[in-house]
Amino acid sequence: MSRIVFVNGAFVPFEQASIPIMDRGFLFADGIYEVSAVLNSRLVDNDAHLARLERSLAEIRIPNPYTREEWTRLEEELVRRNGLVEGVVYMEVTRGAAERDFAFPKDATPTVVMFTQAKVISRAPAAETGVAVISVPDLRWKRRDIKSVALLAQVLAKQAAAEAGVAEAWMVEDGHVTEGSSSTAFIITRDGRIVTRPLSNAILPGITRRAVMRLAAENGLVVEERLFTLDEAYGAAEAFYTSASAFVMPVVEIDGRAVGAGKPGPLTRRLRELYLAMAGATAEAA
Ligand SMILES: Cc1ncc(COP(=O)(O)O)c(C=O)c1O
Repeated sequence: MSRIVFVNGAFVPFEQASIPIMDRGFLFADGIYEVSAVLNSRLVDNDAHLARLERSLAEIRIPNPYTREEWTRLEEELVRRNGLVEGVVYMEVTRGAAERDFAFPKDATPTVVMFTQAKVISRAPAAETGVAVISVPDLRWKRRDIKSVALLAQVLAKQAAAEAGVAEAWMVEDGHVTEGSSSTAFIITRDGRIVTRPLSNAILPGITRRAVMRLAAENGLVVEERLFTLDEAYGAAEAFYTSASAFVMPVVEIDGRAVGAGKPGPLTRRLRELYLAMAGATAEAA
């Protein structure tokens, strides 16, 4: 079965999908995106992802082409047409195609592209062993709260990680960890406090971050939103990152130094289990 994608109002075979070279997403990265996980063929925490998509569009003043219900139906249809059981749905909206000029065009129609990617998330082997990360300078712009498709700094960060043979790069600014190139960074202190950076323009408001923080609080765990340094991360008892496409991923090494015992820690494992239970539960109830 050929992969079916969604482009500007139509479901089409992947090979036939195209967008104009004057699309502003291509020329200026003038667009935003969103990624929702799919587990058991159901979308996970999708309303929160769509709320963030709405906000990203509003922040850069691209009209939202669909209501939340329409987005949801399109995603579900794409999952169904591709027979996707586990993976992600990718959605992108750009300001559309127009003669090249920096300022907004007067009459462009937003471009909408959606596709699915199959991926093993719930039983990812890396979640059993934990992964290594490296630190890199955070080279990004000042509106990281918008899920912009301008991802060059993250591309370079992830490539540095790939060349170092590790899974992710944690970005550092003014001595503090901001976040991963495509994930939210967490550490757990030796007295069991779960620490992550507070929301601001400096990081993306992670949807998985929010769910994990809620699950932690509901289960009597202490969550502290504050800045943390790379040195504190090196000396942490546990570390992990979260994202829609990884859920809760244990980090066992940072810049070549073992974190804690050098294997996934008990609180991280518990949070992953809690998240999986929640994702499975809401996925089934959807
Ligand atoms: C920079 C950045 N931070 C955090 C995240 C995690 O966000 P979410 O949990 O909503 O996937 C992502 C996901 O792609 C990201 O790109």
